[in-house]
Order: sequence, then structure tokens, then C-alpha cells
Amino acid sequence: MAISAPERTPEKRVARLSSVSAKRVIEPDEEILGDFGPGQIIPDELLLTAGLDLKLTAEQRAIISRQQAAAMLDGGIRLEAVLLGGFGLMLASWPDLTDPRLVYLLHEVGEETRHSRLFVRMLTQLQPAAPNPFHDRIGRFVAKRIYRLTATHKLLLCTMVLAGEEIPDLIQRRAIEHPDTDDYLRRANTYHREEEARHIAFAGILMPELWSQSGWRDKWLVKRVAPSLVNLMVNTQLMHPGIYAAAGLPALRTHRAVLRSAAHRQLIAEAMRPVLKTVLASAPQMRGRVPRGWRRICQVDRHGRSA
Ligand SMILES: [Fe+2]
Ligand SMILES: [Fe+2]
Repeated sequence: MAISAPERTPEKRVARLSSVSAKRVIEPDEEILGDFGPGQIIPDELLLTAGLDLKLTAEQRAIISRQQAAAMLDGGIRLEAVLLGGFGLMLASWPDLTDPRLVYLLHEVGEETRHSRLFVRMLTQLQPAAPNPFHDRIGRFVAKRIYRLTATHKLLLCTMVLAGEEIPDLIQRRAIEHPDTDDYLRRANTYHREEEARHIAFAGILMPELWSQSGWRDKWLVKRVAPSLVNLMVNTQLMHPGIYAAAGLPALRTHRAVLRSAAHRQLIAEAMRPVLKTVLASAPQMRGRVPRGWRRICQVDRHGRSA
């Protein structure tokens, strides 16, 4: 008689993630040291402007590479801060304080604060960072409301955290794999991706449970609002017109051209498909009825299939 593998309950899978996090505590202030090299730190093919018909000087390419890295770090710190706020609220109202999920949430919070401290250091080293024009008074007013909405709705938070992990993860993976990426950036990305892989796995365990516990409004936010919030996060935080202005390019025109380019849309679709996969695993009834926003951002059909 064949012996089947012992069933891995969500509790056991979460406890396993916690034990890996406990054994492998990385303090970036001790293990990820150094500074960026001079000039261009991201190779030509991975510059945001790569798909555009632009003749850039070596200096412009260097500026764009440093500014796009700075924008990702800035956006990453803000996203992780929303995660910390949302997870803090979840922890405060968690019904059972002996639940292994709560222990893992605490590990994740600890890891994110270490990431953010590293990102702040890297951002400081990249100074002067180009100002993000979306961080004006109106932009900050809108952002604050979106942060609050996200942090106070668990299912939306889980979806946005996953999107905010998958998109940088793909960008960081491409940078790591390219031989011309700056060594300091590569080491930081490698460290970050290793811990984020566990966070992504945890979100995959948590999302189906949250989905079954959530009301129609929270589900509606994920179905109808999340894709727009992801677009806002990418188009106004992780990438912004100030990057191009710093290199002497027309800021808004270049930003729009980057966002419309096939390379950019492909990148976001590739990063967002695993997020949709997790949503569909949590809500199989959505298959055949994938909302328009998700279809557009992931470039998939109503069943969630890519062409
Ligand atoms: Fe992180
Ligand atoms: Fe994370």
C-alpha cells in the first residue's frame, strides 16, 4: 500500500515559514554593506526608457538608472509602511493570539522594517533623488486616503501587498540576472527577494482564508478597485516623471510613453499574473468572469488565461 505524504495544513506551512525566518535573520546593517558604484547602475536594457526611440547620452542613461532605482526604493519604503500599518491593525484584532499565522506576521513585520532601513540608507546614498511631482499637496492628500483604505481592509491589503511584492520582485530578478547591474544593488536585491519569497508564500496561504471570511464590499474592492490602485502605485510611486526630468527629458511626455510601451505593459502583466492566480485560487467562481481591470493589467481573458 502506497504511503501518502502527510497533509500539510495551512498552520504547518505557516509554522515552517516562521522557522525559516527565525533561523535566517539577516541584519542589513551588518550583512548588506557598501555603496553604489559611479555612473550607470542599471544596464541599458533594463532602463525604463529602453523600449523608446530615444538617443540618450551616457550621462542621461546614468541619471535615469540612478533615479529609477531611487524611485523604486522610495515607493518600496512607502508600500512597506502601509503593510506595517495594516498588519499592525490585523495583529491587534487577531482573534486567537496562539495562531501560528500571528507569529509569522510578526516575523514579516520584522523583516520589512529591516528592508525599509536598508532602502532608506540606499536612498540616502543615491541623493539627490529627483522630486516626485505626484508628491505635491493634492497627491499626498489622495495617497493618504488610499493608504488608509488599503491598511483597513484586510483582503485589499493582502492583494496590494502581493502586487507590491510581485512587481518589484520581477524587476529585481531581472536586475540580478544581468551581469552589468551594480554589485551593491544586486546584493540588496538578492537579500530582499529571498525574504519576499516567504512573504509571497504566506500571502498565498492567507488570501483564500481571508476571502472566505470577507464580506461583499471587501471582495468588491479587490475585484474592481485593486487593479486601479496597482496602476496608481506603479505609475505615481514606483516610477514617476521626475526620473526623466532629472535627465533633461520632457517629464510627462516621457513618463506617458514609458507607461504605454509594450515592454512596460508586458512587465506589469507578467508580474501581476501570479497575483491574479492567487485571487482566482481564493475565488474560483471568478473564473470566466475576471473583471475588466484585472484582464487589462494582466493581459488575460475572462478565464484568467494569457494569449
Ligand atoms: Fe520588503
Ligand atoms: Fe514583503
